[in-house]
Amino acid sequence: MSKVKGGARLERQGKTSYEWAKSHMKILDNTISRLKKRGNGKPLRGVTVGLCLHITKETSVLLMGLKGLGAEVACCGGNPLTTQDDIATFLASQGVHTYAWSTETQKEYDWCISKVLGHKPSILVDDGADMNIMAHFDPRFAKLDIKGATEETTAGVNRIRAVQRQGKLRYPVILVNEAHTKHLFDNRYGTGQSTIDGYLRAMNLLMASKRVVVAGYGWVGKGVAARCRGMGSRVVVTEVDPVRALEAFMDGFDVEPMSKACRTGQVFITCTGMRDVITKEHIDRMPDSAVMGNVGHFDVEIDSDYLLNRSRSVRQVRPSLDECVLKNGKKVYLVGKGRLANLVAAEGHPPEVMAQSFSNQLSSIMHILENYQNMKNEILNVPESIDRQVAVDALGAMGVRIDRLTKEQSEYAESW
Ligand SMILES: NC(=O)c1ccc[n+]([C@@H]2O[C@H](COP(=O)([O-])OP(=O)(O)OC[C@H]3O[C@@H](n4cnc5c(N)ncnc54)[C@H](O)[C@@H]3O)[C@@H](O)[C@H]2O)c1
Repeated sequence: MSKVKGGARLERQGKTSYEWAKSHMKILDNTISRLKKRGNGKPLRGVTVGLCLHITKETSVLLMGLKGLGAEVACCGGNPLTTQDDIATFLASQGVHTYAWSTETQKEYDWCISKVLGHKPSILVDDGADMNIMAHFDPRFAKLDIKGATEETTAGVNRIRAVQRQGKLRYPVILVNEAHTKHLFDNRYGTGQSTIDGYLRAMNLLMASKRVVVAGYGWVGKGVAARCRGMGSRVVVTEVDPVRALEAFMDGFDVEPMSKACRTGQVFITCTGMRDVITKEHIDRMPDSAVMGNVGHFDVEIDSDYLLNRSRSVRQVRPSLDECVLKNGKKVYLVGKGRLANLVAAEGHPPEVMAQSFSNQLSSIMHILENYQNMKNEILNVPESIDRQVAVDALGAMGVRIDRLTKEQSEYAESW
């Protein structure tokens, strides 16, 4: 379901974007070809898959792949504001049940998730756990026969772990984010690059010489900090974990508490997955013209309510950039309303890296379907064989060959 006008033009544009992404997602093609060897080429016939993923050109390649394998597919966006309307229109034209448009409110976003669950999926693919949480705790969906689910991102992994800790997990959930070939590449290089893309499109200012404050030095923060340094920015990292703070410092970044960094930073990028990282007090102390935004999964890292609802005035000065005149007279700027700046202001991760993440997703879906009868209602990692196969495919796609252990080396590794 799309609320967007301009159907035929958007559909053509979406198709071209889908084709462009697909041509750079060889790894996913390999996974699909491998799975096609089972079940007469349609191993997912009779299976309904419900997905809550950012609707981007890369996601359309996964969804069309699932359809090609015989699945019934229903999808919604992974966050309000992260849907690309041309892709949603294209997917709907291809028979994917699509509940997504780019300007969704939080209420509409929740409604879209409920519509996907209304298709009675037996497999859920989630990004941030909103769909899994609804499937677990909304009485309307208590009777759904869900065989299992997968989770794409760190924020969702943390929430699913909390559900498991309370002993309330209703079905097995594979934590795709925890695969090496996911978080080491998608979170770091994918978010690193697309965050720069989002900030540049939003502000189009010089990154060289800017004092950029990166909050959080996890996989996302490492990628963002490295890319900002590559652009010539002077990067300051804030952290709460002493080991990661030490790592950032030894990687050559300044490390400061936010209470200090907020006084001198010119550009702020939150990458923590934690709430209240940039508060009203930090915002009031920022230099005039500071630009801030968030690439953590939820819009809880920056006090965007203070900026958008309690400033003296607010106006949109560029697409995805709001100017907020604070009560103290300073002007500060917020990218993408404080939501995932790399998806709201740009297009999210590039296809090559999403091919790795989605190959893990697709193989994990198949793993659940083939094994759910023997699986407990618990969280699981992506099987190592899948993770390694994705790495082999990714190296192959990039034309990289590596050595193999000789028999003697294998024996040496096993000896004491
Ligand atoms: N924008 C995207 O496309 C995208 C892609 C992948 C992940 N994510 C999201 O980004 C967030 C981070 O993911 P990750 O994989 O880097 O997680 P991570 O757990 O590896 O890193 C988070 C880091 O933030 C630090 N942190 C927590 N609270 C903090 C605070 N108050 N101040 C400073 N640092 C703090 C933690 O110590 C940790 O080192 C999550 O919400 C994740 O879901 C977004």
